[in-house]
Amino acid sequence: MVSEVVVNRVVVRVPAKINLSLAVGARAADGYHPLATVFEAVSLFDEVHAEEFDGDGIDVLVAGAGAESVPTGEDNLAVRAARLLAERYDIELAGLALTLRKAIPTAGGMAGGSADAAGTLLACSVLWDIDIDADEMRDLAAELGSDVPFALLGGTAIGTGRGTELVPVLSRGRRHWVLVFDNDGLSTADVYRRYDELRPKGSELAVPDELMNALTAGSVVDLAPALRNDLAEAAIDLRPDLEDLLARGVEAGALAGMISGSGPTCAFLCRDESTAIDVSGRLARDGAGDRVRRVVGPAHGARLLG
Ligand code: C5P
Repeated sequence: MVSEVVVNRVVVRVPAKINLSLAVGARAADGYHPLATVFEAVSLFDEVHAEEFDGDGIDVLVAGAGAESVPTGEDNLAVRAARLLAERYDIELAGLALTLRKAIPTAGGMAGGSADAAGTLLACSVLWDIDIDADEMRDLAAELGSDVPFALLGGTAIGTGRGTELVPVLSRGRRHWVLVFDNDGLSTADVYRRYDELRPKGSELAVPDELMNALTAGSVVDLAPALRNDLAEAAIDLRPDLEDLLARGVEAGALAGMISGSGPTCAFLCRDESTAIDVSGRLARDGAGDRVRRVVGPAHGARLLG
């Protein structure tokens, strides 16, 4: 006897990212900047719960870190993801309840909104039993935002174009990071705008050879000096206090500190787990308190939990 399993609730876990290298070219005519970046997914995850209910419309409930600053209306990226998927696959959208359990900071430079959009694409494709392959899902993800395809993929990957053209990178070993969140987010668009003012010609679009070699060799000591973020200058210009935090992380024992993406989250690369424990403790005592997290990279991409 074949029994049919009726899925009416799906849970997906999806990671935050940092950029090990982020080279930004000059603003293109469409308003976006061409990138050459190396993404790394880290073990900080949002969960997307998708459930059908009798009724209509999309209900969004946001729980967890910074929940109050996440919009719950049509401009929520998860809602846009669900609507896009429904439209492309002719799904008659009845009642959909989305619960976003957030651990990734909002407007933190770690692609939290993009993670929720990626998680929603995967969750709803299962919930609605859509026959969609990885390429089609990636194309929809790219329509939603620059970081959404990587949130699906995870691991470590080179991103070009707007960041949506991805090639996985084979890297050896695990990297231990200490993250320091900020209570006030930075708008990605604002940081890019400031970047245009500071560097109207952009910079050379390349991934440093030293960085790729360090990843292949699995050497965090060699990786540290190769980390690069072209948006750091603009983020620090908008938030000068970040510079002091970066210096304090290195004083506390990290190999290097960098702004994550467009900031304001700061990411500190540590030699090993025990150093990361030490650095996180020091930064927490030094004023960062409960805004400090220890994570490892690379982490998996969007994954079905049940
Ligand atoms: O694509 P995403 O929604 O993540 O981008 C947010 C904003 O960041 C865009 O509206 C754009 O102003 C800026 N951006 C950019 N160039 C990129 C990615 C983002 O200018 N490659």
